[in-house]
This record gives sequence, C-alpha cells and structure tokens, in this order.
Amino acid sequence: MSEPRINGLRSVELGVHDLQKSAEFYRNVWALEDVSGEGDTLHLRGTSRDHHVLTLRERPRAGLLGVHFSAPDRAAIDGLHGKAKAMGMKLSGPAGELEKSAGGGYGFRVSTPEGHPIVISADVADHGSAIDDKTRPTKLTHVVLNSADIENQTKFFLDVLGFKWADSTMMMDFVRCCSDHHSIALARGKGPSLNHMAYEMPDIDGLMRGAGRVRKSGYEIMWGVGRHGPGSNVFSYFVEPNGFVTEYTTEVEQVDDSYVAHDADWWKAQNVFPCRWQMAGAPSEFARKAMGGDLVEEENLRCEQVMARALGR
Ligand SMILES: [Fe+2]
Repeated sequence: MSEPRINGLRSVELGVHDLQKSAEFYRNVWALEDVSGEGDTLHLRGTSRDHHVLTLRERPRAGLLGVHFSAPDRAAIDGLHGKAKAMGMKLSGPAGELEKSAGGGYGFRVSTPEGHPIVISADVADHGSAIDDKTRPTKLTHVVLNSADIENQTKFFLDVLGFKWADSTMMMDFVRCCSDHHSIALARGKGPSLNHMAYEMPDIDGLMRGAGRVRKSGYEIMWGVGRHGPGSNVFSYFVEPNGFVTEYTTEVEQVDDSYVAHDADWWKAQNVFPCRWQMAGAPSEFARKAMGGDLVEEENLRCEQVMARALGR
C-alpha cells in the first residue's frame, strides 16, 4: 500500500476578538457565506462545494487555531495518525468523529514540531452545488506559516503528511499536496504564527472586482496587485479586522509530479521579485510587520485599532 498522504487544503480556523465584527467583514466585504455555527463559532463557505473555508471562534486573544487538510478516506486518516504517532508528533488524541456543525467527518489534530495547529479529516460533508459568482472566492488555496525553524517544519509536511517540495526562495519553502503549485509555504520569521491565508478567485477579472469591492468598503490593498515568482499566482493582500493578512489570488500554477522544483539560488537569478510584472513594489514595513504576525501575536489589537493602523499608515 502506498504511503498515506494529504490531498488538499480545506479551511483555516481563527480565534477572533469579536465574532460579529469579524463575521461582518468576511460576509459583506470578503464575500464568504454563512454555513452553520453556534455560540462563539461560525463556519463560512466560498462558492465551491467545500463545506466551509473559514471558521471563526470568539476568543480573548486572536490567533491561528487550525489549518485543516483533507485526506482521501478514513484508512488514510488512520495511516497518517499512526505515522505521526510513530514519529513522535504531538497529537490531541486518537482519530475520531468530528464536529457536526463543521460538516462532520473523521479526523485528528496534530501540531507541527514548532506548534502550528493542524487538523486532518476525511468524509466531511460538502454542498450539493457550487455558487455561480465570479467576483467571490471559490476556495482556500494556500496558507503561509511563519516559522523560526523552517527546515524542521518543511520536513514535517514532507515526511509526516506526504507533501512534495515545490520550490524554495531565500524567505520561503513551498510545498504541495494537490495540483496547486503550493498549498502551504513556510516563511522565515519568529513563528509559529499565521503569515497569511489566500482565497482563490476564478480569474483576474474576478480578482480585480473582488479587490475593488474590498477597497470600496474602506480597506486598502496592503500589497499588490502583482504576480508572484514561485507559483506564478496573481496576488492582492489586505489586513482583516483582527490583524490577520488575507489574500485574493488567482491563476496559481497547476503542476503534477513532472514539476521540477528549484532552490533559492535559481529563483534569485530569475528576476521575478517582488513581482513578475514589476507592478507591485516590495512590501511596505507595515505589510512585513502584518505578515510577520506582529499585529496579532504581539500587539493583539482590537478591530478598530487594526483598521486605523491599516488605513493611516
Ligand atoms: Fe500568498
């Protein structure tokens, strides 16, 4: 039997200061849609059939509570759990049935060696149909994690979860688990924290319309619009009301096992930084701080303070 492995990115789970204010942003500005929730929790979907792409839970401190991945079936879940256990990884307990309001299914929680919270599941319910609206995000397409020890975090994704190496730059390692060039990247930083999460827009026109909606709602583009080097995706980054960085992206390179990954020296020679189009300049000091996780991890600002900083920088 082949090694059990992750086969997709499902959703991100965030602790937020104020559930209602955060939900308003993700519904009305970011254009996700409520699916289910109770008490301090809300799950929101994109336009694809995925059950949800974002979970918000009201907490005294904002923070990353989980990056959720899919595995093909229950046997793969058991296989991955056994492998993580054998390799001495920190597990929350045995694999089991998951929260009904989150679509149910079967899975477990595990931490990366540095402490990033990971959830792996199979058999989660999905929606009967997709929503036809090109101006709204379809799915969560990648998550970038800050790490003070990216070599060990990358090794965890490759050796324990079965990811494949996609590329490296001086700042980041990119790893893949499906046809998207990367579903996870590990960024050199203070870690463990969330650098940013990226939601896929159907095409460039959809991305620009979505970014226009966000700007019209009073949120400035923090970095972009531009086109990245590795992954070749078009990017536009914003700061949301808790200080997390969130991205609309599109046209991420589709790859298979014939893809040839390159190291930092190769990428440095390509002249694709900070943007292939040479449209977007280098990220500002504020953008680097936000992506470093400082607004959430160190300053733990309230929504109004984050927005004042983002607009007044
Ligand atoms: Fe990104």
